[in-house]
Amino acid sequence: MLLRSIVRYIFHIHTALSHAWACAQIRGFRVKHRAIDNVQSRYLAVDLKYAAMLVAYRRRGQAELIAIGRTVAQGFACQPTDVSTPAESGRVTILETAVAEEISSIRSRAQSAPIADSSSGPQAALADEAAALVADLHAAFGNHHARAVHAKGVILVGTFTPADEARTLSRAELFSKPSVPVTVRFSNFTGIPDIPDNIGAANPRGMAIKFNVGDSRDFDIVCHSFNGFPVSTAEEFGHFLENIAMSGEGVPHPTPLDKYLANHPVAQRFLTTQKPPPVSYATTSYFGVNSFAFISKSEARTFVRFQFAPTAGEHYLDASVAKSMGSNYLAPEIVKRVAEGPVRFDWYAQHAAEGDRIEDPSVSWPDTRVATLLGTISLQEVVRDQLIADKALHFMPATLPPGVEAADPMLAIRNAAYPISYRQRQ
Ligand code: HEM
Repeated sequence: MLLRSIVRYIFHIHTALSHAWACAQIRGFRVKHRAIDNVQSRYLAVDLKYAAMLVAYRRRGQAELIAIGRTVAQGFACQPTDVSTPAESGRVTILETAVAEEISSIRSRAQSAPIADSSSGPQAALADEAAALVADLHAAFGNHHARAVHAKGVILVGTFTPADEARTLSRAELFSKPSVPVTVRFSNFTGIPDIPDNIGAANPRGMAIKFNVGDSRDFDIVCHSFNGFPVSTAEEFGHFLENIAMSGEGVPHPTPLDKYLANHPVAQRFLTTQKPPPVSYATTSYFGVNSFAFISKSEARTFVRFQFAPTAGEHYLDASVAKSMGSNYLAPEIVKRVAEGPVRFDWYAQHAAEGDRIEDPSVSWPDTRVATLLGTISLQEVVRDQLIADKALHFMPATLPPGVEAADPMLAIRNAAYPISYRQRQ
């Protein structure tokens, strides 16, 4: 009896020591990498903490505690890491080295990201306007050394399979391949990296898609879960953001934003008629909002807007359920969902009819317009290392393949603004 108590005592001390060791590694890692921004180190720390939990608890042999560790990791969109081998301590070093190398390579790649030439001519004006808009986004949401907007997200990979009909509208190469790999990033609105998933301010949700056609011929589409935009032009977007920035906490009502919204019903509608938080990123529709021209082999032009319809249907949370879901339910939800089967979206091109506004994303086209199914996106996997992927991934909404052209001037500004934010967040 006494012997059993002694053994148990030694066992507990051993477990506590191994946990302490792991925590010390985390502290050491944080100190060493002070240069890495807060968001990154938080993610890394969670990954390390998770590794530490596995080391400590696997020794204890408590499966349910390992499961808790896994849930914690999934909450931060980290994938479980097996550290049961003798390489436990090596794991920290390997992770540390790999992350540092990867981040330095992403940083140098980011420096060569295509940014509009700001030296002279119309490109200079575009670059200035884009830089001002990125600054406005930071003023509105805070500069968190993250994406200027849609900062919190999760990345998946899968394939796109085109429908035959797509080839009749556009000669773009991706429609004539049997299938094309895709990378998709789902996100919450605002530039706040830890915005709770279950609040209205996280709407609209974002869906950014990269069709990996090959070489430098990628085709990106960046859309969100609201069929419209608060303003008609990039210039007006700046005013809208400035009013948000001037109306932060503690500013007496009516705030500048209250006054702005009183005279801008479209922006008011955008902020007040969003859908409730979705059950999943996979259960809400996404809208491209800006217009494109599809060009066929015979040079026929069709003005279109993109829509992505979830094959799982649209499902949203009741207010009381949303409250109980907590701040970080969407990443673990999609991890679980995709482990059970592919997450699918049908991609439609909605056709403009006579009189539809091509150059004004604040006005949606009626649901009765003809819509052609262009194909289906099927997401099969959550990217393992979200930190690295998120850092490296960026989208260019108007870098288009032959067969697709931008038909809304807002797209040129977006294309100039995204790489500025991309560089800044390295
Ligand atoms: C003038 C208009 C716009 C400006 C200046 C703008 C600017 C930006 C910037 C700077 C980023 C961060 C890019 C990065 O760091 O990689 C971003 C991301 C994003 N924007 Fe826009 N945007 C505009 C319009 C729109 C519209 C119309 C939509 C929806 C249809 C949209 C949806 C998104 C989404 C979903 C992301 C996240 C992309 C990702 O996952 O990386 N934006 N935007």
